[in-house]
Amino acid sequence: MSKKYSDIREKLKIVVDKKTTNEMAHLTHYFQNHKNGVSQYYRPTAKEYLAELHENLEIAQEPDFQYYLPIKWDVPFPPPENPTFKFIDLFAGIGGIRLAFQNNGGKCVFTSEWDSFAKKTYEANFGEVPFGDITQVSEKEIPDHDILLGGFPCQPFSIAGVSKKNSLGRQHGFLDKTQGTLFFDIARIIEHKKPKVFMLENVKNLVSHDKKKTFKVITETLTELGYSIHYKVLDAKYYVPQHRERIIIVGFKKSIFKEKETFEFPEPPNTELAIKEILQRRVDPKYTLSDKLWSYLQAYKKKHQAKGNGFGFGLTDLNGVSRTLSARYYKDGAEILIPQRGKNPRRLTPRECARIQGFPDKFIIPVSNNQAYKQFGNSVAMPLIQAVGKNIVKELLKINEPKKSKVAVHQ
Ligand SMILES: C[S@@+](CC[C@H](N)C(=O)[O-])C[C@H]1O[C@@H](n2cnc3c(N)ncnc32)[C@H](O)[C@@H]1O
Repeated sequence: MSKKYSDIREKLKIVVDKKTTNEMAHLTHYFQNHKNGVSQYYRPTAKEYLAELHENLEIAQEPDFQYYLPIKWDVPFPPPENPTFKFIDLFAGIGGIRLAFQNNGGKCVFTSEWDSFAKKTYEANFGEVPFGDITQVSEKEIPDHDILLGGFPCQPFSIAGVSKKNSLGRQHGFLDKTQGTLFFDIARIIEHKKPKVFMLENVKNLVSHDKKKTFKVITETLTELGYSIHYKVLDAKYYVPQHRERIIIVGFKKSIFKEKETFEFPEPPNTELAIKEILQRRVDPKYTLSDKLWSYLQAYKKKHQAKGNGFGFGLTDLNGVSRTLSARYYKDGAEILIPQRGKNPRRLTPRECARIQGFPDKFIIPVSNNQAYKQFGNSVAMPLIQAVGKNIVKELLKINEPKKSKVAVHQ
């Protein structure tokens, strides 16, 4: 049998749907991590699951994993051959952050995402099924890594009401302040795994949320966990033709970097981007707004303009950048409309949404249009994350390779 991933996927019926279990995540993670020192995390469960699959599919018991390994990765974004660092991808979505760090030479050793449609897209592109709900994953099940990555959903924190009882027996009582939020899960994984660096991404509003209290709890928690924190709101419009402001928080472990890291957020490139450059030439008429929807959007805007509000659709200047693509774009596409000569405006196609977030055209979109709009709207402007990642990796490699430079000095 050929050991192409596509054949193995078919043979072992690796299908991502609502019923997909963490066993499948173990198996695919093992396939990608069998020779980089992290296999013990996945091998036992993967082995049991493989035996079960063999039984169910009535494949005669084959000699364990040897039959499948090494795999030829015929997916658009295979694991890199000679990675220079390891990372984990939390709240992975469709892997925008993974792609950015893979492009910087990293190897993903653990990924988690609970939405079955996002998992499907992820597997189609990376050949790996994410683990599910992170709140149910013990930090002990996560392999060691250099960089922790997470574009976590923003949730309100209630700082009041931290009972003494809850703080008892914890090394860091402040973790309790975030209990019940997804940031808590990031903090507990950082506390246990102590990665050298982390990068977290969120909406710009996180900074001002709840009179800045939420952001204060986040930065204080990360600082108390032993990291020096750098953060900045960055606009993706210098990297993709889309105005998209996001807060990026980067932390360097103080005991390793001694707070001497020279990390800086990237200077925006001096490029003028235009949305017309990412538009597809021939677009199905179904993307053109119906007369009914177009009239409704115009009336809605008029009504709000009369009240002095700026709400309403955004007809995009083709020579400029678009508004921010959101996860609700699938509803009516109102925030980014493309003007068309002699016709009602149209919405973007899913492929154009991929491009506006900087995903290469080989990125596979295996889900319905509605799901695709949600997934790209929830994702990141990949090239911006890649630029931030480049500066992070530069710092990391300085401390990951001290022996090499020592050898060079003595030669
Ligand atoms: C803002 S999106 C991040 C998208 C990602 N950065 C990308 O490039 O596609 C947050 C993701 O967290 C996922 N999520 C929310 N709660 C989760 C949980 N408890 N466990 C795992 N994933 C979760 C959501 O399904 C969503 O895809």
